[in-house]
Amino acid sequence: MFNGRVSSTKDIVWHASQVTETRRTERLGQQGTIVWFTGLSGSGKSTLAMALEARLLDEGRPTFVLDGDNVRHGLCADLGFDDGSRRENIRRVAHVSALFAQAGVIVLTAFISPFRAERALARGLVGAGAFIEVHVATSMEECERRDPKGLYGRARAGEIPNFTGIDSPYEAPESPELRLDTTGRTRDALVEVIRAYLVDEGRILRR
Ligand code: ADX
Repeated sequence: MFNGRVSSTKDIVWHASQVTETRRTERLGQQGTIVWFTGLSGSGKSTLAMALEARLLDEGRPTFVLDGDNVRHGLCADLGFDDGSRRENIRRVAHVSALFAQAGVIVLTAFISPFRAERALARGLVGAGAFIEVHVATSMEECERRDPKGLYGRARAGEIPNFTGIDSPYEAPESPELRLDTTGRTRDALVEVIRAYLVDEGRILRR
């Protein structure tokens, strides 16, 4: 299921694991999967990802959130918000996510990930069915009204350049596996929608 085998030199050789995908699935009761949340800043991606992580972990399922703000404190601390930096941010996260998925984890990524091309790259790193794109489709108006970190206000005041939705683009997914509108629906109800999808698609096995 892992397709990320591109290297810059011929002097390294892929070392195959003794553990087959089937054995991993049987042991863990799930198939490694990337649940890729995308949406505007303040749309609710991290909130949903963190709640889903807690829900799955309480069932004993290996799961982990990669969150934009957190990853930018370490792995991607050298990157800003110009288009090239965002592309590189998502490229790195895509590869890390694919490794988590290969390990059998249900990895939940919460990044604006504004560009279709980089989301497509991430999708292409894992096998069919192992990438579930979740568009957290909260409207720009609602995100700006919530403004949980006060960033929209500062961006409107000209203090934060390249702000998504203001002077930096967001390319909404055309056919995501799930599109969620967070207005008027509780966090927990939406978590159940995503979990049910994982069950229906055979990514997590019933216990
Ligand atoms: S992405 O575009 O590269 O995918 P990412 O999800 O990692 O973005 O980071 C977005 C978070 O960084 C936002 O939720 C917000 O808290 C913060 N942020 C800081 N500057 C910006 C900006 N110019 N545009 C969007 N988000 C920003």
